[in-house]
Parts: sequence; C-alpha cells; structure tokens
Amino acid sequence: MRGKKLETKIIEEHLIDEIVQLIQQGEVVAFPTETVYGLGANALDSKAVKKIFSAKGRPSDNPLNVLVSTKEAMYHLAKDVPKYVDELIAAFSPGPITYVLKSADKVANEVTANLSTIGLRIPNHPITLDILEKAELPIAAPSANVSGRPSPTSAEHVIHDLKGKIAAIVDGGTTNVGLESTVVDCTGEVPVILRSGFITSDDIKQVTGACEVAPALQMTSNKYKHYVPEVPLIVVRTEEQFNEAVLEEKAAGHRVGIITADGCHNINVEKVYQLGKSEEETAQNLYHVLRSIKKSEVDIVISAFFPSKIVMDRLTLAATKII
Ligand code: TXA
Ligand code: MG
Repeated sequence: MRGKKLETKIIEEHLIDEIVQLIQQGEVVAFPTETVYGLGANALDSKAVKKIFSAKGRPSDNPLNVLVSTKEAMYHLAKDVPKYVDELIAAFSPGPITYVLKSADKVANEVTANLSTIGLRIPNHPITLDILEKAELPIAAPSANVSGRPSPTSAEHVIHDLKGKIAAIVDGGTTNVGLESTVVDCTGEVPVILRSGFITSDDIKQVTGACEVAPALQMTSNKYKHYVPEVPLIVVRTEEQFNEAVLEEKAAGHRVGIITADGCHNINVEKVYQLGKSEEETAQNLYHVLRSIKKSEVDIVISAFFPSKIVMDRLTLAATKII
C-alpha cells in the first residue's frame, strides 16, 4: 500500500461479483450499508485488515467492527454470549446495532486491536448482505472516511476521502439512516451503550429489562478526533446564545455560517446550512452538511441546538467549542 497509488474502481451495484473477488484477494473496498458507507476487508486476513488502518489513517488501537450476514456467523466469532443477546438480535438485527461480545479469537488480531472483545453487526442493506453471502467471509468494516472526518453517506464522500487509497467503491447512492450504528457492550450482565444511535437505551430496555449508558468518554474511540469540519464549529444550547455567538463572530470580522433546522435566521450571515426538522431528516443530512462546510466560504460555523440526542452527540464530538 505504502506509496503505491491504486486506481480505485467505481463499481455499479449489479457488478457485486467483482467486489467479492477483490475482498477474497485481500483488497480493501468501500460499499454502502444502511447506516454509512463501510470500508471492508477480509477480517481473517491480517494483511488485508492492515490496509484498512493505513487507508483511513486510523490509530491501530481503535478496534474495527465486523460485519456478518447471520446470527450463526456472529456466534461463531464470539464466545460466552449472554442469553439477552439472542433477544436483542431477534428484535434489532439485521439493523443499525453493533454488539461487543467476548471474542473467540478467530479474526486477525488487528481487527480487535488485541482486545479480548469483538464488535459484530448484521447490516440491513441488500448490497452489503449480498457481498457478505457471496464472499462467505466476516468483513471488518469501519466507516469509509479518513479518520477524524465525518462518516460518508454517499459514494462521493468516499471518493473525496479515499480515492487512490483503496481498490474499489460500490456506488449504492445515499445511505438511509445517515448515522453510525448503536454500539452496545454485551459482555456483562446488563447491556451498556458505548455509542448512541437510532436504537436507544429505551428500545433495548424494552427487550432486556435493563440497559445502561456508558459515560460518553468511556467509549474507546472518543479519545480520537471526530467528524471535524474544515473550520471551527461552535455548538450552542439556547437561541439567545446562538444570536450572541453569531453577532460576536461577525463583530470580530469573521465570515459566519450557521446550521439550523429550517434555514431560518434573523442575522445576516455568509452561509446557512439546513439540517431539517425531524430526527430522521437531521440524521440523514448531518454528515453531508459537515462535509459541505468550506474554508473558502466561511471562517467559523455556529450550530443551533437540536433536540435529537444522537445528532447532538455527533455535533458535540465535531465541535471546537460548546456554549
Ligand atoms: O454503522 C456502523 O457501525 C458503521 C458501518 C460501516 O457498519 N461502521 C462504523 O465503524 O461506524 P467505526 O469503526 O467508524 O465505528 C465502530 C465503533 C468504534 O467507535 C470502535 O471503537 C467501536 O465501534 N468498537 C469496535 N470494536 C469494539 C470493541 N471490541 N470494544 C469496544 N468498542 C469497539
Ligand atoms: Mg468511524
């Protein structure tokens, strides 16, 4: 990989066999899932998995999650799985949820960053499931962005970050959910949410009777930079603070961009980024909006407060300052 530029083929979704072959040959490819685009390689092949880390510039101590197409494939890679996981799988998988389980040590050590646990997910997307079934392999697949950047929700986002660094991209259009899966630690008596997502602790509680949420900073990856836009991002909590922050930045002579639900605003600014009103819409648009912030257009962006916790969690991770 080092130094050698790859051609990065852009493959249409009906030509999945080509992607399957590349994966079986130890190459790294990007494809859509229902959450965000994934960057996949054979999870059993150390050399292939190392290519994921180098293409993304991902620190080697941040474990990758692994995609499988069935519950049996999941249990093959895990051990001592608590009974409640059966119920969670019946309720939520295939879907946007990653289970952290005790690892049966079958995947390459690089995948789990030498941890004794493994993150496993059954994606709910016909292309991803087709690839998994045809490849007959567990596929290590983190989000297909350069580390620190927002996760990709379209093939264009992947091309922007990874062209020349990976063998191919399947273009399957815009992803449906738009945010990454809920990550839930299922190694203990009670499931513990490590990363928020569309499947919430209340959803899990309804199935298992109990669910905890880890303090945000306990999550393995939170020590790393996340979703960082090209210019500083300020996230505010009230409308008053929003107006104040905008006026302050304008007074300092900065070109100001704002992120709001409906695009409405009463202060003259250089750029308005509209996220949308419903939680689904905001989630779908978030990464596209963060990626469309250009330093040639604005010096700073100020985001309004959004009621969705899963959106606020990501905005907070992307923020330079929260007021
Ligand atoms: O929706 C998703 O999960 C997407 C799609 C492509 O599947 N993938 C994704 O991967 O978001 P990534 O690598 O960006 O996020 C996976 C998260 C990371 O925060 C990682 O630290 C955590 O899962 N993770 C993976 N294995 C883990 C483990 N054994 N213990 C704790 N956390 C783990
Ligand atoms: Mg990621």
